[in-house]
Amino acid sequence: MESVWRRPAWAQGDVLAYGGDYCPEQWPEAVWAEDFRLMEEAGVNLVTVGVFAWARLQPAPGRWDFGWLDRVLDGLAEHRIAVCLATATASPPPWLTAAHPEIQLVRADGVRLSHGSRQGWCPSSAAYKDAALELAEQVAGRYAGHPALALWHISNELGCHNPVCYCDESAARFRVWLEDRYETVENLNLAWGTDFWSQRLSAWEEVLPPRTTSYFGNPAHLNDYVRFSSDELRGQLQAEAALLRQLAPDVPVTTNFMLPGRWRSLDYGAWAADVDVVANDHYTLSDDPRPHVAVALAADASRGVGGGRPWLLMEHAASAVSWQKANRAKTPGEMRRNSLAHIAHGAEGALFFQWRAAVAGAERYHSAMLPHAGADSDQFRAVAALGADLAKLAPIAGSTVAAPIGLVVDRDSWAASLRPTLPSAFLDYGAALREWYEALWDAHLTCDVIPSTADFNSYKVLVTPHWQLLDAAEAQRLRDFVEQGGHLVATYFTGVADRCDQVVTGGYPGALRDLLGVRVEEFRPLLEGQEVKLSDGTAGRLWTEPVKLAGATAAAFYVSGPSAGFPAVTRAERGAGVAWYVSTQLNPAGLGEFADRVADEAAVPRIDAPADVEITVRRGAEALYTFVINHSAEAVALKFDGVDLLTGDTGPVMAVPAGDVRVVEQALR
Ligand code: GAL
Repeated sequence: MESVWRRPAWAQGDVLAYGGDYCPEQWPEAVWAEDFRLMEEAGVNLVTVGVFAWARLQPAPGRWDFGWLDRVLDGLAEHRIAVCLATATASPPPWLTAAHPEIQLVRADGVRLSHGSRQGWCPSSAAYKDAALELAEQVAGRYAGHPALALWHISNELGCHNPVCYCDESAARFRVWLEDRYETVENLNLAWGTDFWSQRLSAWEEVLPPRTTSYFGNPAHLNDYVRFSSDELRGQLQAEAALLRQLAPDVPVTTNFMLPGRWRSLDYGAWAADVDVVANDHYTLSDDPRPHVAVALAADASRGVGGGRPWLLMEHAASAVSWQKANRAKTPGEMRRNSLAHIAHGAEGALFFQWRAAVAGAERYHSAMLPHAGADSDQFRAVAALGADLAKLAPIAGSTVAAPIGLVVDRDSWAASLRPTLPSAFLDYGAALREWYEALWDAHLTCDVIPSTADFNSYKVLVTPHWQLLDAAEAQRLRDFVEQGGHLVATYFTGVADRCDQVVTGGYPGALRDLLGVRVEEFRPLLEGQEVKLSDGTAGRLWTEPVKLAGATAAAFYVSGPSAGFPAVTRAERGAGVAWYVSTQLNPAGLGEFADRVADEAAVPRIDAPADVEITVRRGAEALYTFVINHSAEAVALKFDGVDLLTGDTGPVMAVPAGDVRVVEQALR
């Protein structure tokens, strides 16, 4: 396996990456020496440098100031700390946007955003792209051969604050994008269904971005604008990546994704092909009652978009963030469990935002590896202890996680689900994804969270929540999967429309009707808070359908609510496999029972573990590494024939105290 970063000359053997965003430009040079010393003390071996340093590196057009960065990189190298070097293109400096106001993003209501925050550039701006590529070329040209350079970091969270722009330059680029896709205006009219509300177009010039309108916009227009905008951002990623690969061919290229949330608009399944290493940023939410489930979901998505490749956790928080309502500080041990959970799910290292807590700027109250209190702090001691843990886990570098279940995310359907004009405004793609994931997590079932374009062949079970926009070829792929022995779980609002968001007629769920063996004549969504009972004792919310059987058999019926008496969950045997249809949002107990049943039928290997004890297995060339993360409040004892890399404990019975972690190495003979 190739390492996810170019290992520096001083490195001996494989190690996991440990470190964070390092912003020396925010500090007097006198502080740097302390940074380097404390980084070494904490076991830091990789830092991300220069993400927001454009204004420092290029103080004026044609003027470059690399002296300070030379000294930073040299200092880091002396301390044997490798660098993930940013192209620094994320935030243009004030002089650039002053000279080219058209770089600044325009909102749907026509307001052009002012300079003064970050990442406010229009993804279609030529002036931005020219300047950014000039900067990236300067950075790459200067540092390609630097001994500390281990990884290129393109931009930062592409599309985080600028996922779409509605300016005239974007409009012009959108027309070209559409012409490429549809060739003629008439094809576009057909695809967008423009005879509705007199929207028929007669020339490309009439196409506009979906700006603020009097009433609902055209859903197909809106969908294409999301696709176009994601492609524009991807164009920036590809342009910078091409340049870096030309100037430094042996240094891997990455950018930080924001999985899973931003998958709602950014086509990460496609973007993953543009990077050598998938990297992800993940932050837990203060009001999430089970943040560790969110961590696992993000990690399984990071592995899933990359097709199972080892990946890197580029950012997470050492404790609180500074952008939520109440920024909850992590509890003792939570940071360690979060970092190790990402690694348990396939990360080749854990990096934080950020190394040293800032004193100025909008993020001055964001946590850091080195907090405002300094090195004499519980936070820094926990950071150093985690660094020591990661050093002990070096043997796992390069090992991978294999999952028998694919939880499918369709970017277009997620984006489309966020719009008005659906049968229910309570449809919630992100929540459904999380609820299905949580059911699998609780059942100790390992899954990859994969794009709908992924190869399905390696999976025994596929779960497709809300795959609303699905074309005939995709329906055929699912049919092939089932007929060849796969178990498909399709949920309500799957397969109802094609990729142009035009409803498939003849009964829902359109393209999947035959495969699922059901036919539905109308949706009967529920009101907020309404619950319906099912014949198996479970319950549903949000949605119901009067399902008619057309080849499937009923596994559970509605016993209350608008679809009472009709099947709620169905099962159809097709070829060597099974196609399930779940026509309501099952409550957690229902999802749990259902997940168990499907897993048993599909003969998915199960890990026997107590509730809230997370277990994942990484497979290396010579050993299996079983991560046991005890999120519960009780100590557990598990049977293991191996040795814990963290404590040196050996089996056959291993105690895992509440909140603690074990990584058991078992040799493969
Ligand atoms: C990320 C971003 C970082 C920092 C962090 C704060 O979205 O990439 O630069 O702002 O959030 O949580």
